[in-house]
This record gives sequence, structure tokens and C-alpha cells, in this order.
Amino acid sequence: MAFKFFSLVVLVVGALQTVRAVPPKVATCADGRTTAHAACCVLFPILDDIQESLFDGGECGEEVHESLRLTFHDAIGFSPRLGGGGADGSIITFDEIETAFHANGGIDDIVDVQKGFLARHNISAGDFIQFAGAVGVSNCAGAPRLNFFLGRPPAKAASPDLLVPEPFDSVTKILARFADAGFTPNEVVALLASHTIAAADHVDETIPGTPFDSTPSVFDSQFFIEVQLRGTLFPGTGGNQGEVQSPLRGEIRLQSDHDIARDPRTACEWQSLVDNQAKLQSVFKASMLKLSLLGQNKAKLVDCSDVIPVPKPLGGKPHLPAGSSLRDVQAACARSPFPRLTAEPGPATSVPPVPPS
Ligand code: HEM
Repeated sequence: MAFKFFSLVVLVVGALQTVRAVPPKVATCADGRTTAHAACCVLFPILDDIQESLFDGGECGEEVHESLRLTFHDAIGFSPRLGGGGADGSIITFDEIETAFHANGGIDDIVDVQKGFLARHNISAGDFIQFAGAVGVSNCAGAPRLNFFLGRPPAKAASPDLLVPEPFDSVTKILARFADAGFTPNEVVALLASHTIAAADHVDETIPGTPFDSTPSVFDSQFFIEVQLRGTLFPGTGGNQGEVQSPLRGEIRLQSDHDIARDPRTACEWQSLVDNQAKLQSVFKASMLKLSLLGQNKAKLVDCSDVIPVPKPLGGKPHLPAGSSLRDVQAACARSPFPRLTAEPGPATSVPPVPPS
């Protein structure tokens, strides 16, 4: 017994000495906040500015959704065959060219807003886009804390057109586009978790701010659940390019999301995210890191991930929307059954639009 206790003490003291031997690389910035690298200090004033004036005091609202979409539309402009600099800020620097691409419809709003912030901070457009996206996502409860690397050089040229997927593209075309940029089908599914904090303004122009799931201000798995339900209605006019029927009043469904949820190449991965928040967070975090580094040399960037705020945990649990049952699920994974979720009580769920801010 005495010997065991003695061994434990030796172990603990040894461990403490090891910890002391490698001092953490902590830099204290001008305002007293700390980060692993002094180079990251420039980010704190930008963080404060965007939380206050872009994200309305730290909300997970319209500007966060738009800023997250922008991280994708800038980065996916990357193809080893066709050109494009990836996550280089070209969508802002060469906005007159890129915002005119059909798949970038509506993105000019957030490009214009972010330009104002860029003008008052010393940071490249490529860094700013990815930083704003990572900070924005941290405002959404249930989200992972995304990574952020600093140091992208200015964009050299606009990305070529036709690199951003469209909601009316086939699954084969979408997977091929992502594969060209370096993503597996599972990573495509992971990236689509972004649509859990998302709405459409331009798919049906008559109903701006119509969400893709019933909880657009939290990073949960409701998007993956609800896209798997049988579509029964159009929330607005219907007949729009890239839109298919959704299961809930006030909710819009993209044809691409519907098809990827049901395609044999992606359906099982999709279903695996229905009731596994830890997996949802880890695969989204990993695929977003990859996206944010497209076209960049990671070795030349500084890891400033510790500047990104830690998101709040999720309150609720995965559920079927009120008024639905497992009979409404169009299960598509041949290997395993759809998880046995229960429906929320009360009258059928109807989803309000995301308010403009
Ligand atoms: C198959 C690939 C994808 C397609 C076809 C697609 C398509 C779309 C479309 C059509 C909209 C609605 C735009 C509007 O009408 O306002 C949208 C919104 C959005 N997308 Fe995607 N998307 C894809 C992948 C992604 C990825 C990989 C991300 C981020 C990592 C992303 C993030 C978002 C966000 C956050 C919104 C909401 C924007 C807002 O609420 O203002 N999307 N997407």
C-alpha cells in the first residue's frame, strides 16, 4: 500500500515537472487577453468589432448564416484543373466578377457588409472571410469551436465560374465537383451540416429568410432529420429551380439536400448524423478546417484557433417535428434502420422566417 502511494507521488511529481519543462507559448496581448501566438493578437479587436456590429452582439442570425455561406463560396472556387485560389478572399477582392456568377446569387449583400469591416482592419480578405465564419458559428449553440489559421496572402485573380455547386445539380455532379476540390462524399455530407444554421432568400424570392430546418439559430441535427421526412408542400410559390417539397410549413428544401440524403453513396453517412451530436461536431469541424485551407499553404499560416470563442452547448434533443411520426421518414440507408426518434407534442410544427437584421 505504502509502496503504491509512493509510486503515485513519484508519478504526479514527474508529470508536473514535465509540464513545467515545456512552458506554454502564451502571448499576452495589449488588452490583456492571451493567445498561443503573438501574431494572433491582431484578431481580438476584429473579434470585438464583428461580434458587436456584424453579429448584433453575438447572435446566431442572418449575418452569421450569410458569413458561413461566404466561407464556402470563396473557398470552393478552387480546382487543380480549372484554376481558382480557394480560400483567398477573391470573392471580395474580385467581387464584381464573382458575385455575378449564378451560384453566388444574393452573396453580394454579405460581401458589401464585410467590405466595410475589412476597410477598418489590417487583415487580408481571405483571412477575414474565414475568421468571420468561425466566429459567427461560435454564436450558434451546439456548434463545434472551429479552427482558424491566419496569414492568407491577397488573392491574385478571380475564381473561374461554375465551381460553386447549384441546388439543381445531380448528386453525381456535386460529388465530382467536391472530389475535384479534394473532398470525399462523407466530407460533403459533413459540410452540409452548415444548412442547420441556414435559410434561403433567393430560391423562392417571395419568401425571403425561409429556413432549411425548424431550428436555424442552433447547430443541431434537425436539418438531417427533417430532410429525411417525406415532402408534402411548398412553403411559397413552388416550381422554383433547385427546390423540392418540404415537410413543414415555413421550411424550404433544396433538391440537392433531398437527393444527397437519399443517394446510396451518401445516405448512411447522412443518417449517422441524425442522432449523434458529437460526431456532427467533429466531422463538421474537420471538413470546415479543410475547406478554410483550400489553395493555402498551411505551413505558412499561424494557428489562431484559440481566439475563436467556445460555443454554448445544445439545449434540446434530436426529435421528429410535432405532427410527424416515423412513418413519414423516407429511410435510405440499406445498412441500418433510422433511429427511433419521437415527435414533439403539440400542433404540427410551422417554422417562422429568419428575421432580417
Ligand atoms: C451541395 C452543395 C451546396 C449547395 C447546392 C448549396 C446551396 C445553397 C442554396 C441554394 C442556398 C440558399 C441561398 C439563398 O437563396 O439565399 C444556400 C444557403 C446556405 N448555404 Fe449552402 N449549398 C451547398 C453547400 C454548402 C456548404 C458546404 C456550406 C458551408 C460550409 C453552405 C452554407 C450555406 C449557408 C450557411 C446558407 C444560408 C445562408 C443564409 O441564410 O443567408 N452551403 N445553400
